[in-house]
Amino acid sequence: MLATDYLGLDLKNPLIIAAGPWNRDGKALKESIAAGAGAVVTESIVSDTLLDVRPRIACDERGAQNIRLYSDIQIEGWEREIEIAKSEGGVVIASIFAHTPSELAYMASKLEKFGADAIELSVSNPMAESLEILASHADTIFDMTQAVVQAVRIPVIVKLTQNTTNISKVAKAAKAAGASGVSAINTVRGILGIDLETAKPTLSTYGGISGDYIRPLGLASVATILQTVDVPVSGIGGISRGNHALEYIMLGASTVQVGTAVMLSGKEIIPVILGEMTDWLKEHGFRNIGQIRGQALKNMKSFDEMRFEPAVSTVTGVACKENCSRCINGCMYGAISRRSGTVNVDRQKCMGCGLCTSICPAGKLSLGL
Ligand SMILES: Cc1cc2nc3c(=O)[nH]c(=O)nc-3n(C[C@H](O)[C@H](O)[C@H](O)COP(=O)(O)O)c2cc1C
Repeated sequence: MLATDYLGLDLKNPLIIAAGPWNRDGKALKESIAAGAGAVVTESIVSDTLLDVRPRIACDERGAQNIRLYSDIQIEGWEREIEIAKSEGGVVIASIFAHTPSELAYMASKLEKFGADAIELSVSNPMAESLEILASHADTIFDMTQAVVQAVRIPVIVKLTQNTTNISKVAKAAKAAGASGVSAINTVRGILGIDLETAKPTLSTYGGISGDYIRPLGLASVATILQTVDVPVSGIGGISRGNHALEYIMLGASTVQVGTAVMLSGKEIIPVILGEMTDWLKEHGFRNIGQIRGQALKNMKSFDEMRFEPAVSTVTGVACKENCSRCINGCMYGAISRRSGTVNVDRQKCMGCGLCTSICPAGKLSLGL
């Protein structure tokens, strides 16, 4: 039901465990595979391992901020790690980062020899200014991708970021350079919060925000890329439930990647997400995941098309005696009030913005003509 062909690789399901310290070595990758992941991505491997700063990860109930910097295992060490990761099967994607096309090509060909099934170029880390500029620089991404594509026979994926003015332009450059696919998105540059008592930010420099915070950004990036470039996309950002993964796939993603949810809930979350995906498909009468892929992309309109929506629409369907008042408080046009304990909409005042239909916890309001 979940089996997926991804860039010519046979995945038992489209759930890939994203690059990050939860996949820091062969043992951790093997655990992700054993928990049921369709594929796993290594923490990004670099030509020079750097010392990590401390502390480097913080979280709250909606996600995380990290300033973690790449794998602490030298590239030569990854021969053994990939062997351990694949000792009982599984698909391993090696994530790499370097500053020049030739370094990247050298690393990619080594990792192919070590047994990696694909390469993911992580050119979208939001931590350092120079890297942020790199992520927007379509020409450089083209050169880097082309060098790697020419150095290996396995598929090459380019990991993109939302921290760019035009993600489609970068995706087009990656495809033109021969990438088999792109993945989107990496973490988004941000500050998790400020401690008012000490006047200190949660972490003392900008970091990458992940988790729930970025799911809407990831969804939009996947849709934007797929509307403009014909390239397989792996959707990333804020997936912690089966329905989140299905949202990305409905927008056209070939696969999805999960990071923060594994970091915060452990690898036990992998079978939970897969179970929720399968249950939803079964309950809705689908036989395989391909049947829902891209269905929501068809329903995405451009803003210009939206102008031709009905010019007049008002909220209807209210017979609510609940005491919550969220719709009344949220209505900016003063159209909703309570009379004799029942919520009423004044259709003369209602401007049809639709906010109350999503604010109502009981789903009692709907927009109609
Ligand atoms: C602690 C941490 C470390 C990460 N390390 C890497 C990395 O080495 N390479 C990379 O491409 N992305 C890295 N990422 C980004 C994730 O792979 C993923 O793109 C991002 O976290 C969004 O997905 P999520 O919301 O499911 O976490 C890291 C994310 C976190 C939270």
